[in-house]
Amino acid sequence: MQRTYIKELASKVGEEVLIKGWVDVRRDHGKLIFIDLRDISGKIQMVALPNHAEAHTLANTVRPEWVVEVTGKINARPERMINKDEANGTVEIEILSMAVLNEAEAPAIDVRGDGKDVGEDARLKYRYLDLRRPRMQKNIRNRNKVMLLVRNILEKEGFCEVETPSLTVATAEGSRDFIVPSRLEPGTFYALPQSPQQYKQILMAAGFERYFQFARCYRDEDSRGDRQPEFTQMDLEMSFATEEDVMAVNEKAIIEVVKTLYPHKKIQQIPFPKIPYTEAMAKYGTDKPDIREDKNDPDLLAFAWIVDFPMFEKTEDGKWTFTHNPFSGTKAECFDDLMNKTNIEKIVASQYDIALNGSEMGGGSVRNHKPEALRKVLEIMDYSEEKIEREYGHMLKALSAGTPPHGGIAWGLDRMIMILENEPNIREVIAFAKNGEGKDLMMNAPGKVSSEQLRDLRLEIKQKKS
Ligand code: AMO
Repeated sequence: MQRTYIKELASKVGEEVLIKGWVDVRRDHGKLIFIDLRDISGKIQMVALPNHAEAHTLANTVRPEWVVEVTGKINARPERMINKDEANGTVEIEILSMAVLNEAEAPAIDVRGDGKDVGEDARLKYRYLDLRRPRMQKNIRNRNKVMLLVRNILEKEGFCEVETPSLTVATAEGSRDFIVPSRLEPGTFYALPQSPQQYKQILMAAGFERYFQFARCYRDEDSRGDRQPEFTQMDLEMSFATEEDVMAVNEKAIIEVVKTLYPHKKIQQIPFPKIPYTEAMAKYGTDKPDIREDKNDPDLLAFAWIVDFPMFEKTEDGKWTFTHNPFSGTKAECFDDLMNKTNIEKIVASQYDIALNGSEMGGGSVRNHKPEALRKVLEIMDYSEEKIEREYGHMLKALSAGTPPHGGIAWGLDRMIMILENEPNIREVIAFAKNGEGKDLMMNAPGKVSSEQLRDLRLEIKQKKS
């Protein structure tokens, strides 16, 4: 017999079916044993009656989270047993035969509630159990739906998804890099990308014109509610595009995602308001203001573009550094100041961030597509000729090879889903999240490596002096 998914049962009253799934709960009522069975599509109440002796005996032994298959008859529930709040509340399965496909130890954590009463470290350690709870299933499945829809939208807009490497070199995004030692060239290291920034610009040099990628990014920074050492960006770049072009494509895609997948949510203002950085700081004291008219409305989404960021800011030692990354271009009217290295504090970048309900959901810019402009940025930051050549030589060369004007953006996908799903932190929307100390408690990462591996890499671990 073909397996039937539980969500299809209500329309098949009277039929005999084969269903498979996990035991959610078992209730003994003397001769009657009730078992709620759960599969990917839903839940159903089953009943084992003494007249099917073998199945009845087995039903007595099964425990929560055991995996079973059942052949049974779908019966309409008597009127007084109907539960209108449940999808399958009008039917139940009379168990005819049952087989145990796998037993389960008593679950280390309860998987039936929303998990808010379970310690987070336990949830992360037993993630395979934690992900069974309906809330987590919904979050991860809706994340998939958003990704699928965005892929379709961008495909229609002429974007091509291109995968870029994870083993690369430092990308100057302002955070600390994770590094990976090279075995073939001991003493040298790859860096994991903080974002695909340079690759996507090089794809513009390579003539792709419209690129996007769901890109895994790595930043060695302390975890917070909205921050993970490893996270996902929806990253895109467009050639021959102005700030307005990039914002328009993104705004359209975001609105379509909300209207299609979260139709009960309301976007406060369309088109999204544009707030200059100085105004945001003066009015709200932050560059990611929460402009919701009703902060208690869980279904209100207030997007805002924050624009006109300063290009440079002073470091503690009095030097200039970039406010976002060195690749942002300037507003046309500030270009001469950049090239002449004058009025540096007044240079405005062609940078835009997108804020959502008080979170920085994304950011991007129109870039310096001329090599001499990028070089000026690096010179203003007092980089030596040698450092410029070593770290940016390839970019300067690519920009010198006929690179069109271009700009792009990256959304923090995890943050976006967190807000859409009304979750308090991004760990709730990442299948295998790391804890506050950056650890994967299920896999025990980071972990030690063998002395052979260290020897191959010619690495030596120094013990901390006590
Ligand atoms: P930026 O550094 O602003 O820009 O990153 C873009 C977005 O990524 C999200 N984000 C994070 N999410 C979770 N955990 C983190 N540790 C984390 N760090 C950042 C934020 C942020 O707005 N290359 C540029 C984009 C561009 O210019 O096109 C970049 O990476 O939501």
